[in-house]
Amino acid sequence: MENKRESWGSKTGFILAAAGSAIGLGNIWKFPYIAGENGGASFIIVYLICIAVIGLPVLIAEILIGRTTQRDPVGAFRKLSNSKFWASVGGMGIVGGFLILSFYAVIAGWALGYIVEALKGSFFNFTEPTSSANYFNDLVGNIFWNLGYFILFMLITAVIVWAGIRKGIERGSKIMMPILFFLLIILMIRGLTLEGAENGMKFLWDPDWSKIGPQSVLIALGHAFFTLSLGMGAMLTYGSYMSKKTSVPNSALQIVFLDTLIALIAGIAIFTSVFAVGLDPAAGPGLIFHTLPSVFIKMPGGYIFSILFFVLLTIAALTSSISLLQVVVSYFVDERGWQRHRAVIVLALVISILGIPSALSFNVLADFKIFGLNFFAFVDFIASNILLPLGGLLISIFVAWVWGFDKALVNLREGAEKLFDNNPWVIKFWKIFLRFFAPVLIFLVLLHSIGILDKIINMFS
Ligand code: TRP
Repeated sequence: MENKRESWGSKTGFILAAAGSAIGLGNIWKFPYIAGENGGASFIIVYLICIAVIGLPVLIAEILIGRTTQRDPVGAFRKLSNSKFWASVGGMGIVGGFLILSFYAVIAGWALGYIVEALKGSFFNFTEPTSSANYFNDLVGNIFWNLGYFILFMLITAVIVWAGIRKGIERGSKIMMPILFFLLIILMIRGLTLEGAENGMKFLWDPDWSKIGPQSVLIALGHAFFTLSLGMGAMLTYGSYMSKKTSVPNSALQIVFLDTLIALIAGIAIFTSVFAVGLDPAAGPGLIFHTLPSVFIKMPGGYIFSILFFVLLTIAALTSSISLLQVVVSYFVDERGWQRHRAVIVLALVISILGIPSALSFNVLADFKIFGLNFFAFVDFIASNILLPLGGLLISIFVAWVWGFDKALVNLREGAEKLFDNNPWVIKFWKIFLRFFAPVLIFLVLLHSIGILDKIINMFS
């Protein structure tokens, strides 16, 4: 006898939870800085194309596999294919969940710690432009600060997942997502009303095609995966708690829309502010932690806005981290028969231990290098640049050729009858994109990533 499996309480609950998974550090921390480094507007156009041509079709595929099988990633692939190989593709997703959460929670911990710094008004002690970078380096260089907030963040994540799909993840998303939208709109308005904001807008909307090369296309593609939580079964897992009455294509479209909207609004909020005070938009990964505090000092109401910003960042990270933990939990519950509460405690603990070397990569382990990367960067690279694209590639091949489009379409139609009858071309597009564009383009991203790895290895041999 199977135990009764959990499910979402409502369609809105599912959309908010899935959008919450998609919207995270990727949108607010990573997207603005990679757009900043790759020329702004022209990069954004390429990114939007990647989202539409690859992100959306793969997202539909993932949610559909989950909804059809009502299983964790391993069980889902096994059920549809009856093959060990494909079950192990699901297994790769579970491993991905462990790895991604272990380093994701480190940065999320910084965001949490920065709420406290903002409340203390620490940024207002900065006297020179370099102070905020030094301050940041001092904080992440401090083992207790770094590990402490990392563990605290993992604890909050575990508490929400512990409470379950409806009472934890769904309820949490229903509370946190509206707050997130609200805070971001306030920050965007603050940015837009600063003197000199138009320079930031120009940077965001005037394309500079000279900065776009093959490299930036690949970065855009890789990010499309990360930002939509694709390639490791997170959306598959969330889809597995979904009712067959909810339309998969419509839900996917709403998730993509919300995720893209939030990335763009975050871009506006951040670049209008950065340009208004004349700082460098291409500051890289430190953009949010080094550059923004110096922006807040100079902006009227900066004390309040700095607190709001880091609360926003923490909430965004939290609605994503719970989806990562849930993937791992669902596997141990569905496949290994663990009781959910036990799974949450044990797995959150394992991930916290796995994350320790990542948290220490900014202090005591700074000189410990694997292929020239510190532990944190190494795990990030393996997960985001190898596992996710590989997972996405295999998922599109699976639906297009192994499970088979005809079977997939019969399932996709459920809950989406109107769309199928009124706009059959949508379905045709999905087929073409999933069959050809997605695998070919993802394959290129993968080659590129492996190429980088190759270079790194060569450097050291
Ligand atoms: N999409 C999230 C972000 O943009 C991160 C994330 C959550 C994720 N779950 C994932 C990324 C699964 C890849 C796979 O921050």
